[in-house]
Amino acid sequence: MKIYASMLAANSSCFGEELRKVSDADGIHWDIMDGSFVDAISFGAEVVRSLRKQTQQIFDVHLMVKNPEKHIETFANAGANIITVHAEATHHLHGTLQKIKSLGKKSGVAINPATSIEFLPYVLDVLDVVLIMTVNPGKSGQTFIMQQIDKIKRVTEVISDKIEICVDGGINEKTILPCVNAGAKNFVVGSRIFNSDNYSEAIKKLRGYSY
Ligand code: DX5
Ligand code: ZN
Repeated sequence: MKIYASMLAANSSCFGEELRKVSDADGIHWDIMDGSFVDAISFGAEVVRSLRKQTQQIFDVHLMVKNPEKHIETFANAGANIITVHAEATHHLHGTLQKIKSLGKKSGVAINPATSIEFLPYVLDVLDVVLIMTVNPGKSGQTFIMQQIDKIKRVTEVISDKIEICVDGGINEKTILPCVNAGAKNFVVGSRIFNSDNYSEAIKKLRGYSY
């Protein structure tokens, strides 16, 4: 199991300190929002670049932006290890994933709750991670959408073991279990970690649900 801490839920006035407090997480998830694909604007590549120097953890950049192909190189240079784009945000998903791979990064595709997975078999050759959204993208602290459990199961039937499934949105002790039962092993966690008194303890509790 991998737990990625989502910095969107962290206190942005002290990102450096927040980052140190989630050193137990396997990776750091950066939610990049452009105010167009989603309403909110979050942070950009300079934030990722400046914090890259502080940790060896995996940096997983989730681009909630229109035309993500325009920004891939910037985030690759800022220190991303995984770059995830939304299936709904680009007309050229295969080409965009190919571009991420050509820069030596892991490629991910994020799938919104109402998006079907029919395209998935056609991008497997350029894909490392499937990010299943269990909330609508745009903010942390939302309620987990239970209907997405069926999507997790269906994704496990389409992909090989080499491709990671990661679940993003509304993960806590109650919602992680049905995801694990459906075949998910990796999780993005925002408010459950950053709204707690002890981040390490929150991460440890969630790890207790792996098989
Ligand atoms: C939602 C983001 C998530 C979010 C997760 O648009 O993609 O990564 O920050 O936060 P929680 O765990 O609070 O739902
Ligand atoms: Zn995210």
